[in-house]
Amino acid sequence: MIFAKQLIYWYLQNKRELPWRKTKDPYRVWLSEIMLQQTRVAQGLPYFLTFTESFPTVFDLAKADEVEVLKLWQGLGYYSRARNLHFTAKYVAEELNGVFPKNYKELLQLKGVGDYTASAIASICYDEAVAVVDGNVYRVLSRYFGIATPINSTKGIKEFKELANTLIDASQPGVYNQAIMDFGALHCKPQNPLCDECPLSTSCIALATNKVKELPVKEKKIKIKKRYFNYLVPVTPDNKTVLEERTGKGIWQGLYQFPLVESKKEANEKELVETELFSKLFPEETTVSLFNKETIVHKLSHQHLITKFWVVKTTKINELTMSWKTVKEQPVPVLIDKFLKEYLNEES
Ligand code: ADE
Repeated sequence: MIFAKQLIYWYLQNKRELPWRKTKDPYRVWLSEIMLQQTRVAQGLPYFLTFTESFPTVFDLAKADEVEVLKLWQGLGYYSRARNLHFTAKYVAEELNGVFPKNYKELLQLKGVGDYTASAIASICYDEAVAVVDGNVYRVLSRYFGIATPINSTKGIKEFKELANTLIDASQPGVYNQAIMDFGALHCKPQNPLCDECPLSTSCIALATNKVKELPVKEKKIKIKKRYFNYLVPVTPDNKTVLEERTGKGIWQGLYQFPLVESKKEANEKELVETELFSKLFPEETTVSLFNKETIVHKLSHQHLITKFWVVKTTKINELTMSWKTVKEQPVPVLIDKFLKEYLNEES
């Protein structure tokens, strides 16, 4: 509680005077909170003034043409916010007689209203003790409590929301929520936070452990690359095959594999037989059959290998051949090992 009290004390001396802070009208609070998502207060403020002048009530916004709404939104970006805003205004005006839902749970049902906006409106307008967690709140809490859980991970989102809900001042939740957001925006800033003159400095873990610059932690979302693998599994009349060492850098270096054709997308038989490797390996007639009727997706940390094993029966092959017994003695990736187990079971 002392944490909340100190923040509120700071807020009462330092808060920004903003038009939506002079009211508990849910229409205006909702409008401001939607506008301020992914947007700084200084940028959002003129839009708020224009909007409330053009549409003083939710009925005025509901009556407006979508083109007019989008025009006034121009420059704020993320235009789905404006479309959802207009949709919800029409819903509130027409279905709810212009009365916004009065609690967090019901507010969440409105289109374009997520956890953050529902918490902000419920706490500011209806004194419900639900904590907001925006970028500012993540920063303040991760530093003050020394929490290194990534703020964009499922675990982090849950952990910070739960912590925030235990810290809120239930007697003035709206004030507390705005206090922590302003404190993050103006004092506990991303760069050059004002630690020297911070009212929370004696109990801030990040400051005590010299981790202010490292917190909060954000997980780098790696982009999963899709690759399309076609393994050619040659089968000669004397029941031998071809396995070769995987050369070059990258995954599975030094392991053994069947000759591989990598394609830009899933390949069909016609595309496969037209590849350079195929015609180089198989100079004569072949019978090609797809072994796995369902495409295999082999998941690695950074890539998904969308894989097909093509059994190619042939009379002649331009490569050294190997018995299945020898094949089984070679080190192979799990993907190939699984194939071998299935194929050889089936064949024997
Ligand atoms: N950012 C978005 N909404 C805010 C609010 N009500 N107070 C402070 N910062 C905010």
